[in-house]
This record gives sequence, structure tokens and C-alpha cells, in this order.
Amino acid sequence: MTVQVTLHAGAAVAALRGGGLVALPTETVYGLAGDARDPAAVARIFATKGRPATHPVIVHLPDAGALDRWATAVPPWARSLAEATWPGPLTLIVNRADDVLDAVTGGQPTVGLRVPAHPLTLEVLGEFGDGLAAPSANRYGHVSPTTVEHVMAELGEVLNASRDLVLDGGRCPVGVESTIIGAWDDTPRLLRAGAVTAEQVAEVTGREVSMADGGVRAPGTTVAHYAPRAHVLTVEADALADILSEVVSPFGLIALSTVAVPEIDHVRLAAPADAAEYAFVLYAALHAADDAGLGVVVAVLPPDAGVGHAVRDRLQRAASSGART
Ligand code: TXA
Ligand code: MG
Repeated sequence: MTVQVTLHAGAAVAALRGGGLVALPTETVYGLAGDARDPAAVARIFATKGRPATHPVIVHLPDAGALDRWATAVPPWARSLAEATWPGPLTLIVNRADDVLDAVTGGQPTVGLRVPAHPLTLEVLGEFGDGLAAPSANRYGHVSPTTVEHVMAELGEVLNASRDLVLDGGRCPVGVESTIIGAWDDTPRLLRAGAVTAEQVAEVTGREVSMADGGVRAPGTTVAHYAPRAHVLTVEADALADILSEVVSPFGLIALSTVAVPEIDHVRLAAPADAAEYAFVLYAALHAADDAGLGVVVAVLPPDAGVGHAVRDRLQRAASSGART
């Protein structure tokens, strides 16, 4: 049986209180949420995604005031960053409070926390009143969903139709996963690029952002990930003509609308006007490539500025994962 889709935050809260899972919208991508204090619900999140148990999940909070229920010894700079950015596409990895479940942290001494900026999900969190564990609502290793259609294609038949729900909040406006900042000591560390840039973090905190992870794992950010079935080839705009002379048609193409494209038979998957629109359409374009049965997608990298940095990161990961079957 296929899981039900609802538009009502109240129905989602009831499902969560009953120990069910809810795929819900955030400003970045859809998440698969469950009560972060309920070991059975967290275990079902992992089982539903087919995700290794050692991968920690982000806890979504109703507001920055909930930080101290989940974290301890939060550095003042991280508190300022949370206050300046939440609700918004930023996750902080902070020292965990004692009672946070090991299943949520992957057994690590830290926990990932964020307040998502989506009105419907903020309503759910406000009514639920505590943390919701939520990884992206895709099967392990697949591209994150940015629409209800993608969620249904990934999990519609896997979720439990009598307990779980999908909350329809339209298309996710950012389109790539949150920026992850390590915040367990004096140094902000960029663990995953997203719409909140390292420059913005430096500006708010008055600290230099380290691009090294400080030895802490953010599992899932290093392994083959974000991969469509199609083989992804990434290229800088000025090398596009060279690559296209070697690619066999038909292939899919994603590039900024300003990039000059040689006259070769291809399927244009997306022509975003800028980096923000590139992030917004990226995963839908990769899904569309798979739906069209394309074997190859050529993706022209946007300039490495603003959210363009995160788009380049996700494309390069998709490219290095190779084609999945
Ligand atoms: O935008 C997002 O962050 C979305 C939405 C749904 O909020 N969520 C998301 O979750 O992308 P997920 O599980 O697909 O990716 C979370 C990443 C993983 O790579 C995980 O390893 C890392 O965050 N992470 C979570 N808690 C961590 C911790 N305590 N230490 C290190 N890395 C952590
Ligand atoms: Mg994910």
C-alpha cells in the first residue's frame, strides 16, 4: 500500500506522536522525520532508508532556544551563529547532551542540530515541541528529494501506510542540503558546503573557518553519495566544447543559461540563470535524467562563489560515484 500524502501539520504531529515517520519539507530538501527521543522511531528511519547505523542523523529543533536541551558546552560563537542563521540552511555539530540517543549521534560525542526554515515544518516542530531526527528522505546513496513526487518515488512503497505520512509543502526553495559547521571548540569547521557560505560564517562569528574536518567524521559526506543512475561528467564552462566532441548522443546537459553550448544533439535538463537557481533545479534535473533513461549527464560547473560552491561539491560527488545500476 502507498503511504498517504497530507497538507496538514496536525496530521503529521499525530503520526509522529504515535511513533510513525513523516517525510516533511524543509527549505533545503525533504527529510524523513521521527521522534529523536524514541529509539524505535530512529531505528525505523535507518531501516526505511537502508542507511548504515553508524551514520549520525541531524536533529531538527523548533527554535534556537531548544539548543541547550540537546547540546552542552556550546561555544559562544556557535550560539551567535545559530541566532543569526536559524531558521535557515545551517547545521551545527555540537557536543551532545548526555541523554541524546546513541542511534542519533552514531555513537559520536557530538550531535547535529538545525532549525529548518519551512513554515509547515516549523508548525510541526512547534506543536511537537521537541527534536525530530531527520536525514534526507531518500534511499541510502540516492539523490536527495526536493519535491513530494521524488519522495514518493523513493519511499512511497517503503513507508508504512498505516503509521507514516508524507507532508506536502511544495518544492524545496534552496534545493541542496544544509551547510554543516563543526562547532565543538573555538574553530568553526566547514564539514559540508551549502547555501550558508563559509564567508558568511566568518562574518557572523568573526572567526576564520577551517576547511579541514578536525578529524571528525561526517559519514555520508565522503562516500559515494548524491548519485543518480546516469553517469555524471563535470566540466568547466570553457572546456565544454572539448568534452562534447567525445560524448555519445543522446546525453543530458545542465548548464547556466549564459554558457555557450555547441550545436550537438542533446537533452537540455536545466538552464538556470544563476547559482541559486542551479541549486534549486539540480536534484530535479538529475531525477529527470534518470526518468528519461539517459546514460550520461554533462554538467557544466557554475562559478565557485556563494551557493555555487555547494553545487560544484554535489556535482563532483555525483561524478566521482560513477553510474549506479
Ligand atoms: O539540509 C539538510 O541538512 C537535510 C534536511 C532534511 O535537514 N538533512 C540531511 O541529512 O541532509 P542527512 O542525514 O542526509 O545528512 C546529514 C549529514 C550526514 O553526512 C551526517 O554524517 C552528518 O550530517 N552528521 C550528522 N550528525 C553528525 C555528527 N554528530 N557528527 C558528524 N557529522 C554528522
Ligand atoms: Mg542525505
